[in-house]
Amino acid sequence: MKVGLIGYGKAGCAVAQVLCEDSRYQLEWIANRSGSPTSAVLGGASVPITALTQGGLATWLDQHPVDALVDFSNAASAAIYGEEVKRRGLTLVTAISSYDDGQLAYIRSMGSHAKVLCSPNITVGINFLIMAARLLREIAPFADVEILEQHFRDKPEISGTAKKIAESLAVGGDKITSMRLGGIVGHHEVIFGFPYQTVRLIHDAIKREAFGTGAAFALNELRDCPKGFYTFDDLLMKRVRAQILAGVEP
Ligand SMILES: NC(=O)c1ccc[n+]([C@@H]2O[C@H](COP(=O)([O-])OP(=O)(O)OC[C@H]3O[C@@H](n4cnc5c(N)ncnc54)[C@H](OP(=O)(O)O)[C@@H]3O)[C@@H](O)[C@H]2O)c1
Repeated sequence: MKVGLIGYGKAGCAVAQVLCEDSRYQLEWIANRSGSPTSAVLGGASVPITALTQGGLATWLDQHPVDALVDFSNAASAAIYGEEVKRRGLTLVTAISSYDDGQLAYIRSMGSHAKVLCSPNITVGINFLIMAARLLREIAPFADVEILEQHFRDKPEISGTAKKIAESLAVGGDKITSMRLGGIVGHHEVIFGFPYQTVRLIHDAIKREAFGTGAAFALNELRDCPKGFYTFDDLLMKRVRAQILAGVEP
C-alpha cells in the first residue's frame, strides 16, 4: 500500500520510521507546512518532502499517487487535503486529537467517500486497555475503580488519555491520580478493587514509534472495511468479534 504522511514533527518522524520498516507499506512522500527539508533518508531510501498547500496538492497527488494518507500534523490540514480524499477515495488515518466540532463533522463526512479512521489515541496498547477495562467494568460494576497516570515532570495538565479512560468507565475525574516524575513517557493504570482480589490493567508508553505501530495496524484493518468513518475501537471490536465467532463455529 502506497502511503503519504502528513506532518513530520516529533510524532511524524517516529511514524515515518515505523512505516518504512513495515513491508506492507511504501512511504511515498511526506508533507509538512514548510516543505523543508526537501527529503528524508528513511530505511536507506530517500523520501521526498513537500509543502502541503491547497493549490499544489492535486498536482502532487497526480505525480505521486498514493492509496492512503496518514495525518500527524494539525487540525487545520484536513481542510487542505479533504476534498482530494473524497475525490480520489483515499484511505485516511488521522491521529489529530484537537479537532473542533466543525472539523470533526468534516472528517466524518469524508467517510461517505472513503475509508476514514480518526483516533485521538492511536496506540494499540491504550485502545486495548480501554476495551478490556470497559469489559471488566461491565462484568463487575461493584468493584472500586481508580486510574493512575504518571508522566514526565514538566507535563502540566492531567493526561487526556486518563480522562478518556474515566469517561469510558463512567467514573468521575476525582478517580484519576496524577504523578509527575522525571522522564516517564506515559504510564496509565486502571485498578479494579474487588472484595477478595485486585485487577490492574497497565500500559506503559516506551517510544513515539508506538504511534506508528497504531497507524500501521489501522491501515491494515481498513483494507477489509467498506467506506465509512471508523474509530480505533471499531477496528479492535471487528477483531474481537471475529475471534468470538471463530470460537463458536463447530
Ligand atoms: N492520536 C495520537 O495518539 C497522537 C499521538 C501523537 C501525536 N498526535 C497528534 O499529532 C500531531 C503532531 O504532533 P507532534 O507532537 O508531532 O507535533 P509537532 O512536533 O509540532 O509536528 C507538527 C508537524 O505538522 C506539520 N504541520 C503543521 N501544520 C501543518 C499544515 N497545515 N500542513 C502540513 N503540515 C503541517 C509541521 O510542519 P512544519 O515542521 O513544516 O511546521 C510538523 O511537521 C498533533 O496534532 C498531535 O495531537 C496524536
